[in-house]
Amino acid sequence: MRIGLLTGGGDCPGLNAAIRAVVKQGTGEYGHTIIGFRNGWRGVVDGDVHPLGRQDIRNVLPVGGTLLGTARFHPREEDGSMDAVLATVEAEHLDALICIGGDGTLHAASRVAEAGVKIVAIPKTIDNDVEGTDLSIGFHTAVNIATEALDRVHTTAESHNRVMVVEVMGRHAGWIAVNSGIAGGAEVVLAPEEPFDIDQLVKFLRHRHRAHANFSIVVVAEGAVPREGSSMEFTQQLGRFGEIVAGSIGERVSAEIAERTGFDTRLTVLGHVQRGGEPTPTDRILGSRFGVAAVDAVSAGTSGVMTALRGERVELVPLAEVAGRPKRVPEELLRVARVLA
Ligand code: F6P
Repeated sequence: MRIGLLTGGGDCPGLNAAIRAVVKQGTGEYGHTIIGFRNGWRGVVDGDVHPLGRQDIRNVLPVGGTLLGTARFHPREEDGSMDAVLATVEAEHLDALICIGGDGTLHAASRVAEAGVKIVAIPKTIDNDVEGTDLSIGFHTAVNIATEALDRVHTTAESHNRVMVVEVMGRHAGWIAVNSGIAGGAEVVLAPEEPFDIDQLVKFLRHRHRAHANFSIVVVAEGAVPREGSSMEFTQQLGRFGEIVAGSIGERVSAEIAERTGFDTRLTVLGHVQRGGEPTPTDRILGSRFGVAAVDAVSAGTSGVMTALRGERVELVPLAEVAGRPKRVPEELLRVARVLA
């Protein structure tokens, strides 16, 4: 078989482990040919191919990012790019495509599958918001990085008697915020799943500092939103969810705390630091398992599915059922973060 392979959307640690597994399993056990595409769907549209062999995957396990490159581009019917994808699949005589990506890439993959191309997808995103799988590639590493940052911020917060606001990634779901907040012992975690009340937050910090503490750590997911009507001025300044630019929510929360409490307050925006560098063993293993499972699925003639971690097992779930529905943090986990604050 000739199998196309791409990585789309934002990069993350662990992608190279998945690419390596696809190449090893594909070219080894099955004798397939693996055709990589550069820069995600953009490369499929442009026919930008990079045939992958054993020499390409040497020593890539500990390397972050993606050796294929990636882009935030998705083919659409309207501008002819979907037709271009189908033309490349035909020109390259591909029997199937393996697409590694987050929700946008998976959504596009689902539509390409509907157009008749055999597709198996692999979920990756540090945000961990892909429905149908317990974990996506990259999330574990991002939580590690954010937790380490919180540990570091803790000591300087304590030394300077400060409130430290740490903004982490997570546009539609607060998986990184909640998990790193619990692991890093944050006093407050603001996640998109639970709109927050700035008045309550300020009251809590004042009370805590009056009672016993000289510092506080507040973790804010970039997609956190204020509770409607909680403070009109605050809500208006933020605008509607979706219009918020990265960083603005952390800046706003930090400014409000400083202004209302008079506490010395500092903001740290972790940003792309969370997406870079060496993957944890968990992400390397997850990428490897998903890569092998995807090749097995393609080889068995399966299409329109995504590899998924469910408990201890890697399973296949229908792509159409998971694309376009961000997975939210469950109440149980949100509660743990609240209880331990
Ligand atoms: O990959 C998801 C994500 O990490 C979001 O949390 C974040 O908002 C976004 O990527 C940033 O994307 P970009 O790298 O395109 O700025």
